[in-house]
Amino acid sequence: MKINLALTAPDQVETEALVAVVLDRAEKDRAEKDRGEKDKTEAFVATSDKNIQEAAAEVISSGETTGKNLESTLLHRPAGLKAKRLLLLGGGKAKKFSAADLRKIAGAAVRSLKAKGVRNIAVVLPEGGLSGADAAKAVVEGAFIGGFDSDTYKSERKDKNKSQSIETLTIVGSSDQSALQKAIDEAQIIGDSLNFTRSLVNEPSNRMTPTVLADHAKKMSQEVGLKCEVYGADKIKELKMGAFWGVAQGSDEPPALIVMRYEPAGAPEKPVLGLVGKGITFDTGGISIKPADGMEKMKYDMAGGATMIGVMRAIALLKPKVKVIGIVCATENMPSGKAQKPGDIQTAMSGKTIEIINTDAEGRLVLADGLCYARQLGCTHLIDAATLTGAVVVALGYANVGVFSNDDSFYGRFAQTSTKAGENMWRLPVTDDYLDLMRSSIADLQNTGGRWGGASSAAAFLREFAEDTPWIHLDIAGTAWMEDQKPWIAKGPSGVAVRSLIEFACNFGQE
Ligand code: BES
Ligand code: MN
Ligand code: ZN
Repeated sequence: MKINLALTAPDQVETEALVAVVLDRAEKDRAEKDRGEKDKTEAFVATSDKNIQEAAAEVISSGETTGKNLESTLLHRPAGLKAKRLLLLGGGKAKKFSAADLRKIAGAAVRSLKAKGVRNIAVVLPEGGLSGADAAKAVVEGAFIGGFDSDTYKSERKDKNKSQSIETLTIVGSSDQSALQKAIDEAQIIGDSLNFTRSLVNEPSNRMTPTVLADHAKKMSQEVGLKCEVYGADKIKELKMGAFWGVAQGSDEPPALIVMRYEPAGAPEKPVLGLVGKGITFDTGGISIKPADGMEKMKYDMAGGATMIGVMRAIALLKPKVKVIGIVCATENMPSGKAQKPGDIQTAMSGKTIEIINTDAEGRLVLADGLCYARQLGCTHLIDAATLTGAVVVALGYANVGVFSNDDSFYGRFAQTSTKAGENMWRLPVTDDYLDLMRSSIADLQNTGGRWGGASSAAAFLREFAEDTPWIHLDIAGTAWMEDQKPWIAKGPSGVAVRSLIEFACNFGQE
């Protein structure tokens, strides 16, 4: 998708479809609502362009267009405009309108218009509230989010050739060309990286083995100028990563320890941000095998790893002055004659011994060694992302990433960024009570903590390997995969946490 910036009057933009935002100014107070008074809408187009306002006047006065969220009205040959179509998309109440709403509007515009065969669109940045740069960023990110489809292997795939998706997106702004252009350029990097992550997650496990995942990381690293090393079983054993190897030993596919380094000239020695991702390219559960129902979904158990690969790509292109190391522990979790068994004891890289109670609790095992290795490489702050537990889905559903941390101030900085990025995340506890559940009678730790509080006991296990390093754990099991399509995003890999992590890394050095 090519992105242009136009500082022309919106009515003069020649395009197949001009997209404008309709908001609702009306606000009944609570007392009026309690009396049962209906909230009458007062819709208006969020632009000062008189011709757009005029073109929309009739559908607004007829009550057809009310401005409610994602409501869509498509007008052909709008009088007074050079555009062939005017697509009005609702953004809800004007007072509450945010970048997150605008991102969805842009995604919905792309999805609905490309389905109609439209290839060139222009979006009028809404006036009032958001700054031009924030609005432009939201529109471009949203357009990338909406542009992605997961139907890669359908023979009649709609986007097989590029000509079947949106080719050019024109951002129509009013002023400050350089700020808008900068926002657009950054958003394009973020959007591309986000979709790179999603394309990795979307692949089935026969086409996304640990080796293939590592090849993608290497190729990407070469393209953007990152150092990237990929290690196999020998190095994993040499590093004494007994927890990681315990999972990998059951598979015929060789594991991959992927290490991507961003070390820009002029960056201070410290801090060094470590990003550690769970890269289970398929999770059968191992000897503690999972039920058949829904097992196909476990191809997305490498989403945490793919997240970190996409984030490293964006960091390399956005060039913040801070060192970042990305580590992905990639392997399958398979049952076989070589597989680890319940009751086995593994010695992790840190020296801690672990009793394997359930071979399906494998993510924490590979991450234990990934976190330890990140510390050994000099990381002063750690963030991991993992589709770690079904329990986090029970706790938070599909709506929020579960966040855990051993450091309130590090967490606080991250939470600020994720809120700004508009990604829903919710902190859950990781206190010592949960660690008590993870103590083994034969070894230092066991890898499961019983039925209740499973997201927190898994986090408590990881915390033992972050030790005293400030650490954040993102459990994305419920959020990395969209179960249903939405107007602004396809069903399939969501790319959750990618935007927050990119923004966080870019701000990290600067405080
Ligand atoms: N990969 C799964 C967690 C998962 C569940 C991811 C649902 C995405 C959707 C993880 O490896 C796992 O199997 N966890 C077990 C842990 C249990 C055995 C302690 C779980 O959550 O059931
Ligand atoms: Mn598992
Ligand atoms: Zn897993």
